[in-house]
Amino acid sequence: MRVTITVNGTTRETEVEPRTLLVDYLRDDLALSGTNIGCDTSQCGACTVHLDGQPVKSCTILAVQADGSSVTTIEGLSGNDGLHPMQAAFREMHGLQCGFCTSGMIMAAVKLVEDGGDLSDRGIRERLEGNLCRCTGYENIVRSIRHYAREVESHAPLEGDEAKPHHRTLLEAEELAARRQS
Ligand code: FES
Ligand code: FES
Repeated sequence: MRVTITVNGTTRETEVEPRTLLVDYLRDDLALSGTNIGCDTSQCGACTVHLDGQPVKSCTILAVQADGSSVTTIEGLSGNDGLHPMQAAFREMHGLQCGFCTSGMIMAAVKLVEDGGDLSDRGIRERLEGNLCRCTGYENIVRSIRHYAREVESHAPLEGDEAKPHHRTLLEAEELAARRQS
C-alpha cells in the first residue's frame, strides 16, 4: 500500500506492507532511528512520537493508519538553532543515563508541558506513567521537565516586566518563580 505521511515537515510517499508498524516505517524505511523500540507491547513509551500533534506510541499504530497525517520524531524536534529547549534541559539536568528511553520521554514531556495542568513533581510523574525508564532515573527526568516548564513560564512577561529574549538560567527561573508566588 502507498502511504503519504509528512514526517518532520517533509511529505513522503512510501510503499509499505499493510502490517507495517509506524515505528518500523520510521526506523526502517526512513532511517529515523531516534525512535526506539523497547518492548513492542505498548508499555514502555520508548517509541513515542507526535501524530498530528498528539503523543502516540508508534508501536501501537500501523503506518497505514498515519496515512495523510503529520508525524514528528525526536529528529524533528530540534530546529536550526540546535537542540529543542527540552532536549537542552535533559542535558543540563542529567535527565538521561543510557538514553534508551530519552527520545520517547522527551516527546511525551514536550506535550505534557504544552498541555499545562499540574506541573508539580507529582503531576509530572503521574502524567509520565506511560513512559518507563529502565535505568530508573526518574528523579532527574522530572527535574529536567520542571526546569523546562519554568523556562517556558519565565518567558511570559510579568506585569511591567519585559520577557527575556533568551533562556534564563535555572537560578533566574527559580527566583522568578518565587517572585510569582509571593
Ligand atoms: S516499544 Fe512501543 S511502547 Fe514500548
Ligand atoms: S535512561 Fe536508560 S532507560 Fe531511561
